[in-house]
Amino acid sequence: MTLWGSRFEDAPDELLWHYTVDTADRRLLLDDLAGSLAHVGMLEQVGIVDDSEGEALRRGLEGVLAEARSGDFEFLDSDEDVHSAVERRLGERIGSVAGKLHTARSRNDQVALDLRLYMRRVAADRISQIELFALALADAAEDVGETVVATYTHMQQGQAVPLAHHILAYAWMALRDRARFEDLLKRLDESPLGAGAGGGTSLPIDPEISATSLGFETVFGNSIDAVASRDLAAEFVFVCGQAMVTLSRLAEDMLLWATEEYGWATYLDRHTTGSSAMPQKKNPDMAELARGRSASVIGDVTAILALQKGLPMAYNRDLQEDKRLLFHADDTLAGTLSALRAMIAGATFSPPAPSSWVGALDLAEALTARGIPFREAHHIVGALVVKLTSAGRTLADADLSDLHDVDNRFVSADLEQISPEHSVRSRTSPGGGSHTSVVTQIEKLRTLLG
Ligand code: ARG
Repeated sequence: MTLWGSRFEDAPDELLWHYTVDTADRRLLLDDLAGSLAHVGMLEQVGIVDDSEGEALRRGLEGVLAEARSGDFEFLDSDEDVHSAVERRLGERIGSVAGKLHTARSRNDQVALDLRLYMRRVAADRISQIELFALALADAAEDVGETVVATYTHMQQGQAVPLAHHILAYAWMALRDRARFEDLLKRLDESPLGAGAGGGTSLPIDPEISATSLGFETVFGNSIDAVASRDLAAEFVFVCGQAMVTLSRLAEDMLLWATEEYGWATYLDRHTTGSSAMPQKKNPDMAELARGRSASVIGDVTAILALQKGLPMAYNRDLQEDKRLLFHADDTLAGTLSALRAMIAGATFSPPAPSSWVGALDLAEALTARGIPFREAHHIVGALVVKLTSAGRTLADADLSDLHDVDNRFVSADLEQISPEHSVRSRTSPGGGSHTSVVTQIEKLRTLLG
């Protein structure tokens, strides 16, 4: 039985039922019940329902809540959505007084509320997960000690940096992914309950009461906006999307690190898969799927924006589709954070030393430190690179006479700047790729992550 059947002479066609019924929203069950309990409290306080009705509704809802918590709540094929299912079950438990629950409320403000409660709940979970993930990166950075690698630009070796510095870049990105969830939580702190179908109600409600009991800071200022806007849902999906892109970049790096060609890292057997054909294979599938699944979350971002772009005011059924996108984005992020965190925590790093060419900028900076304009120093070292490469040599086997061939202002100490180990030790710029900066970063990150 639908909530609206009486207006129709015909029962809904099976085709309509299958096309329109929402089952994705079942996971809003606990939020829907929390919202209904707060609504009853408000109805009672303003005197729209009397004490005994309020008591009956509350007890009934608490009974349904207990069923929901223990997993005994049963959805029926005849339930149009989670809201209908709760009202149906409440009626089964307490009889006709259940009909008072929906006073001064519509499924339009109800679903907007449920969604906010849900986002608030899972955003807190995702924040904790991101923190654990970033801490795992900080631990990995600490574990690799003073290992030096090349940092790449244009996929070509650029400068020598501590491996820890490279790993920590992802921790800083994760910190901003966390901040985006925290920031969104502030905007979510406004209850839409009381907006009704979109125009408010003639009954003497007080939306502040239900908002306060649900822990919201404030209430909606416009009932049309309250039921028709999904910008916060879209923002939630984007925040998931950006976090997935952070993870996808890390996943791509982790895949490169494990190649024969890079040889930076290996992952635990239990975090990798094998090949049915090639016995030697050890495949980092979790990282591949993290990269792959970010594509579908990017799709969710596009879809939830597109869902809103042409909607006339106010509520339209199109909005039902927001939940699937939001749940999918959030589930994917939750799973991916766990998978990559485990892989990072179990990774063993032993990268090869970078090529000696990563010292070229340091060599130019040695001249610059003595007052030679950087552009000129760059030119001089460039000439040295040409000289050495055309002789099939590298910076590693250059000596002072090679340096003097291109400029006699070089001194023998400049050759020391060429070694990657020396380079990361002498680098002093704040936040730069040096061991001291890494120590500071790990400390700071751990403080920021609590
Ligand atoms: N399932 C609907 C949604 O998710 C709930 C609101 C339905 N409102 C309505 N007037 N049919 O948007």
